[in-house]
Amino acid sequence: MITGFIGTGSMGSVLIEAFIRSGALQSNQIIATNRTLAKVERLALKYPGLQVAASNKEVAASCDILFICVKPADFPPVIADIATRCRSEQIIVSITSPVMIYQLENHLPGRIAKVIPSVTNYVLSGATLCIYGNRMQPEDIRTLEALLAPISRPIRVAEDYTRISSDLSSCGPAFMAFLLRKLIDAAVEETGIPHLEAERMACEMLLGTGILLTSGGLSPDQLINRVAVPGGITQEGLNLLERELGDSFTKLVRITHLKYAEDMVKIEAAFCAYLK
Ligand SMILES: NC(=O)c1ccc[n+]([C@@H]2O[C@H](COP(=O)([O-])OP(=O)(O)OC[C@H]3O[C@@H](n4cnc5c(N)ncnc54)[C@H](OP(=O)(O)O)[C@@H]3O)[C@@H](O)[C@H]2O)c1
Repeated sequence: MITGFIGTGSMGSVLIEAFIRSGALQSNQIIATNRTLAKVERLALKYPGLQVAASNKEVAASCDILFICVKPADFPPVIADIATRCRSEQIIVSITSPVMIYQLENHLPGRIAKVIPSVTNYVLSGATLCIYGNRMQPEDIRTLEALLAPISRPIRVAEDYTRISSDLSSCGPAFMAFLLRKLIDAAVEETGIPHLEAERMACEMLLGTGILLTSGGLSPDQLINRVAVPGGITQEGLNLLERELGDSFTKLVRITHLKYAEDMVKIEAAFCAYLK
């Protein structure tokens, strides 16, 4: 089973490296290309056996599972480029949220899936969000999820919930890291604790919190109740957060969905321009 990658930027290389390091794939089971070929050549140096292809067409023609890991605006030209080389029995995976399954099914013969990864997959953790087109057969889904399981927890999602699920799973690490940085910065500014020391404690805290909330079996509410006793110091901090954060996260969800809607309009126009 050969797995192909078009696009080895940030997320394409996260997936390739995670698949190899987890043992899900051997490097000689991977063929990849990228617009700037030096990026994929660097991966091939690090993982001998990984095959560098000179074109998208070559990757599409040579693999059983194809991951397309380019930015949304680059999808229409890539699809136009590879359409004649794809095959009906091939599993074709888009990792981008605003490109719709139907748009890919309209222009490619393969079995289409959308899999939204997360940077957390680099450490074989976090979710991969799986959305399947109608052509995906039960054995295709088993094959794909068997590939994803060593690097993540595959979670099936309805396409209508792609954006909000991506906010939680893929943007979430950046949102949480941002909040953590704010906490660290305040600790340093207010008390003079060395930055590195504060950062190490805060990062270990986030790791432990994640474990408690997953394999530790606690829900967010249960965890809060374990730490915050009424009238205690944590509760004081939580009261302030409740007051100050207000509807910030509601606004955050609205703004990601607004950008998503704008992206979808642009992509539809680009599909019309490239693929009549
Ligand atoms: N970053 C995340 O955490 C994350 C999470 C989930 C999903 N995603 C999705 O993953 C996709 C890729 O994001 P990214 O962060 O990996 O972006 P990125 O770092 O910019 O990588 C995109 C890669 O695609 C290559 N490319 C562009 N056009 C191409 C073409 N015609 N043929 C071959 N390669 C081409 C680019 O090559 P060059 O080197 O020439 O620019 C670049 O290396 C996006 O759709 C994003 O929505 C990202």
